[in-house]
Amino acid sequence: MSTRVSMCWFSGVVVLAFLLQPVRGGAGDRPQDTQNAPPAVHLTAEQDHQRIMDLLRVTSLRRGADGDGKSPQAANYDEAKANPYPKLPDPLTLKNGKEVKSAKEWWELRRPEIVEDFDREIYGRAPRETPKVVWEVTSTLREMNGDAPVVTKKLVGHVDNSAYPEIKVNIQLTLSTPANQLGPVPVVMELSFSQEFMAAIAKRIPEMTAAATKGPTWQQQVLGKGWGYAVLIPTTVQADKGDGLTEGIIGLVNKGQPRKLDDWGALRAWAWGASRAMDYFETDKAVDAHQIGVAGHSRYGKAALVTMAYDPRFAIAYVSSSGAGGAALYRRNFGEQIGNVAGTGEYHWMAGNFLKYAGPLTPDDLPMDAHELIALSAPRPVFIGAGATQGDGWVDGRGMFLATVAAGPVYRLLGKKDLGTTEFPAIETPLIDGELAYRQHSGGHTPAPNWPTFLTFASRYIKGPGVSVSVTANPAKPRTEVPATGRHG
Ligand code: GCU
Repeated sequence: MSTRVSMCWFSGVVVLAFLLQPVRGGAGDRPQDTQNAPPAVHLTAEQDHQRIMDLLRVTSLRRGADGDGKSPQAANYDEAKANPYPKLPDPLTLKNGKEVKSAKEWWELRRPEIVEDFDREIYGRAPRETPKVVWEVTSTLREMNGDAPVVTKKLVGHVDNSAYPEIKVNIQLTLSTPANQLGPVPVVMELSFSQEFMAAIAKRIPEMTAAATKGPTWQQQVLGKGWGYAVLIPTTVQADKGDGLTEGIIGLVNKGQPRKLDDWGALRAWAWGASRAMDYFETDKAVDAHQIGVAGHSRYGKAALVTMAYDPRFAIAYVSSSGAGGAALYRRNFGEQIGNVAGTGEYHWMAGNFLKYAGPLTPDDLPMDAHELIALSAPRPVFIGAGATQGDGWVDGRGMFLATVAAGPVYRLLGKKDLGTTEFPAIETPLIDGELAYRQHSGGHTPAPNWPTFLTFASRYIKGPGVSVSVTANPAKPRTEVPATGRHG
C-alpha cells in the first residue's frame, strides 16, 4: 500500500504560483519586447529536411542501408567489407599537427577542438544562454518496488518561456530513492522511451519491452545496491521528430523559427534536459549529486553518451546499443549508415551540417569520429554495451568496440586504464577492468542483459551510504522470456 508523504502543500503552492507566473502566460500576456516575435513556423520533416539541403546547396543524399536483407541496398553485415576507411583521426593530434603530450594540452587545446567539431558538424551547438528551469515536485509517494520500500517523487521541470509564450516545455522526471536510506544516495538516471513509444514498438522489437526482462528490473538491481533511480522522458524536452524542431526547447530558444545549420538537434537538446535534471539532483538532499550515473538505450544510448561527454557532473554512463550517431564509428560500413541518420526520419537528432556527410562528403571527411565522443568523457568511466550481431547488428557492436579501443589513448594520457585489449572479445565477455568498459550480450536490441555487468563495473566507482535492500523480481509483473529477433531499421 502506498501512502503519501506529507508535504507542505500550501506554502509550496504559493511559492510555485509565484515562480511559475511567466510560464503560465498565454500570447495575450506577452511582455512588451516579445509581442512582435513572429508566429511559430510549422514545417513537415520533409520540408525542413529540404530546407537544410538547400542551405547546404546539396541536391541529393546517399540513401542509408536498408534493414530488409532482401533489398539491393541491404545493410552490410560482412566484416570483410566493413572497414572502407580504416584510418581514424588521432584524438591526441592537434589540428596544427602537433602531438598532445600532457593532460594540460588535452584539456586546454585538444579537447576544445574536438568539442567544436562535434558542435558544428554533428550534434549542433546548444545556445550559450538557455531559459531557466523551475522544478516542481508534483507528488511524493511511498511505495514498494519488488520488496524494497521507496520514496518516489514525480517532478516537472517548467522551462521559462516568457521570451516566447506560445511554446511550453515541461520536462518529466521521476526519482525513486530507498525509503530507509541513511544518507544521500547515488542515483542512476535512465533517459527513457515514453510508454506510448514502447507500446508502439512492442511488436517490432519485443526484447526491448520490460515484459521481456527476466529477474529483477534494472531499477530493482539499482535498489539492491542501496542506490536510487530516476527516469527522464527526453521527448518532453524535445520531440523525437523533424516537424517538432520549431517546438520544444529548440523551438523555444529559436522563437518558433527553423534551425540554423549549426543549431542543436534533438540529441544535444535531450542531453541539455539531462543536465537540467542534474541541476535538480544538486538541490535534493536525498541524492548524492556527485554520484549520478546516466543510462540510455538505442537513440537514448546516443543521448546518454552525449550527456556524459558534455556535462562533467555525470560520474558514469551506461551506453546501450547506441550505434550510428552514438558510439559506433561513422567510418565503418556495418548496419546503420550516415545516410540513415541524415534521412527525414532521424536528421532531427543532429545538426543540419551533418547532412553533408551523406553527400557529397563521405564519412572519411568527418574531422572526428565516434571514438572522440567517447574520449570527451575521460577520465570518467563509461560502459559501452551491445547485443549480438544476430538481432542487434544494426548498431554495429564491433564498430562500438573499435571506437572504445580508440578512445583509450586519451584515458591513458589522463592516468586511467583503457579497455585492456584490442582483440574483439567473445560474446558475453565483460571487459570491465579499466575506466573504459565493453560487453556484447547474447540477446537482441535490449539493454537488459548488460545491466548486471554495468552495475558490477559501476560499483568500483559509485559507493552507496550502506543501505541494504533484498530485491526480487516484482511479483506483480511476471516476466517471460522472449527470444531475440532479427531487426530493424
Ligand atoms: C532506429 C535507428 C537507430 C536508433 C533506433 C532506436 O533503428 O536507426 O539509430 O538507435 O531506431 O532508437 O530504437
